[in-house]
Order: sequence, then structure tokens, then C-alpha cells
Amino acid sequence: MTFGDQPILGIETSCDETSAAVVMGQRVLSNPIRSQLDLHEKWGGVVPEAAARQHIEAILPVVDSALEEAGLGLRDLAGIAVTNRPGLVGALSVGVTYAKGLAYALSKPLIGVHHLEGHLVSPFLSRATAVPLPEQFLALIVSGGHTELVAVRTLGHYEILAQTIDDAAGEAFDKSARLLGLGTPGGKAIQELARSGDPRRYALPRPMLHDPQRLSFSGLKTAVLRTVELEGAGLDRLGLAASLQAAIVDSLTSKVVGQLEQEEWSDFALVGGVAANVALRERLQFECGKRGVRCLVPEFEFCTDNAAMIALAGAWRLAAGQQSDFSLACLPNADLPGHPGLVA
Ligand code: KG4
Ligand code: ZN
Repeated sequence: MTFGDQPILGIETSCDETSAAVVMGQRVLSNPIRSQLDLHEKWGGVVPEAAARQHIEAILPVVDSALEEAGLGLRDLAGIAVTNRPGLVGALSVGVTYAKGLAYALSKPLIGVHHLEGHLVSPFLSRATAVPLPEQFLALIVSGGHTELVAVRTLGHYEILAQTIDDAAGEAFDKSARLLGLGTPGGKAIQELARSGDPRRYALPRPMLHDPQRLSFSGLKTAVLRTVELEGAGLDRLGLAASLQAAIVDSLTSKVVGQLEQEEWSDFALVGGVAANVALRERLQFECGKRGVRCLVPEFEFCTDNAAMIALAGAWRLAAGQQSDFSLACLPNADLPGHPGLVA
């Protein structure tokens, strides 16, 4: 399995980050990201129409700065990879329409990429020396929209071993952060507060700890709300942030450990925006280390949404002889490619 060694332009506009990147092999030459956090903060969530409009304004300058930083021109590119699924349709269509135009005008291959496949390859990106891709690995995808434990049998073939039945782990961080009156992104804000809090301060639920296939986070948000209401002015905010983070880390770790004990894995990867959480990284590194499993985490720059991961996934598909045609559609919902679904 190879990522090739030609420069690939990646474009990511699936939610509230406009990003473009140039990747050559596994090396990242540029990865500018323009976040829309400030725009959506006043509404308390991502407004799809506003997101799409902002992507339109940002896409040209962001691609220009990706090429400039890489020291390359459009004609040097070997292909154009773009996130086409899943995500907000209006937002996705800005990146996809732009990528199609470029690919057509330059007569270069167009590669539609599944956003989560991008996250899955993110530990193999680097601006310096990248980690070689293992034959197979176990991966935990934890982001604002997804919480899935995935067996990567080979790139392109994924088996979902466990997933959330309601909120994603990132959503639990974000919604609780809002209840605590913190800014966005919630995960990072909770992490900062939790640093000086007692993780045993409040008893928060860890549902389905012994169910190997299911996770649930919606009760956690309700428990946080109840604690805020009950404690009133006496609320220990640092303690609540630390207790919440500990509950999320325990729930996620239980699924990973269960799988590591059930099947022999030599490599584990933690990916997605929540992979930036230091407590989660440290706990999973510890659990993997105890079992002789290598724990791969993306560099911080490649945890949250970015185009470098999309370029790398596209590079791999192109090297495998795959590309999209100009009928490439934007899909709001889409399973990971080539997976047989959750084994019941
Ligand atoms: O992958 P991502 O950038 O976007 C999606 O594809 O959803 O993930 C965003 C999520 C948000 O829920 C954000 O709160 C969370 O990642 N996040 C964190 C941290 N940094 C970002 N969660 C916990 N700790 C962090 N340090
Ligand atoms: Zn993401």
C-alpha cells in the first residue's frame, strides 16, 4: 500500500473549516485552515447557510496560500482530492464544485474522499518524518459528529466494531461546555478547566461500560445539566469539567481495551478532533503500552478538520488506481467505504 510521491492538493469544506493542503507522499508541504468558529459562536452552533457562504469567500485565498506555502503551481499537481461526504451539503458543494472546476481546467484527476477516511490516515501525516502505514490497525474515530471503533483490515475496508447510539463524544464535550457557559470548541475549553479540577468531584454516568458494541453520551449531558442546576452558585466548575472529561475518557477506553483483549492488534490509532484531548491520548497510550500495542496519534495540527488528511487519503486512492468522475455527488450521510456495518 502506498501513498505515491506526487503532489496532491486536498480540499476540505465539510463543516466549519475551510482548508486546503499540499501533500507529497506522507509529507505535508502546506495545510492552511480558516476556521469559522467566530461566525457561528453567536448562534451557539454551525448555521449551514452561513457556513456555505463563508466557504465561498475563503476557498480561493486558502487554496492560493496552500500552493504558495508549498512553493508549487497548479500545473505541478498530480491530482485534486476533495471531501465529498459526509457533511453539510451546502458546505461540501463549495469544495466539490471548486475541485471539479480545477480538475477539469487542468485535466488532472479528481478524487472524492470520505471525511472519516481522511481522519483514519491522519496519524500517517507529518511535516518531518511520518510513521509508515501498518498492514492493519484498530482505530477509534472521535469527533464532533462521530464516535466509532473501527477495524481497518486494509485501507479502504473497514469494519465498525462499536459506535455511539446517540451523541458523539465531541458533542458531549461541546454541549456540556455550553451548559458551563464556555466558548467553542467545547472540548478544548473543558480540557483547560479540567487541568486543575478533581475528576472524582462529581459522579457522572458511564453507561454501557460492559457492552462491547455500544456507547452512549446523551445521559452525560443531562447529568451535567442536573449538576449545574442542583449546585447553583456552589458549583465546582473545575471539578465538573474534570469529572466530565474522566467519564468520557473511561467510556471510550473501555471499548478500546475490550477490543484489544478480544483480538491481537499490534497497532492502534486514535483519530478525530477529540484525539487532541491530552487526557484521552495519555490514557490510551498507557493502556496500549501495557499490552505491547503501538499507539498512534496524529500530530495536533492534524486532529481537527484539515485538508492534509484529505489529500493523503486521495493520494492513496489515486496510487491504487482510483479516481472520481465529474458526476461526483455531495452526500450528507455516508457509511465508511467498504464496510459491512456494525456486526449485530
Ligand atoms: O474532527 P473535528 O474537527 O470535526 C468533526 O469532524 O466533527 O472534531 C471537532 C470536535 C469538537 O467536538 C471539539 O470540541 C472536539 O473535536 N475537540 C476536543 C479537543 N479539541 C477539539 N475535544 C476534547 N479535547 C480537545 N482538546
Ligand atoms: Zn472531522
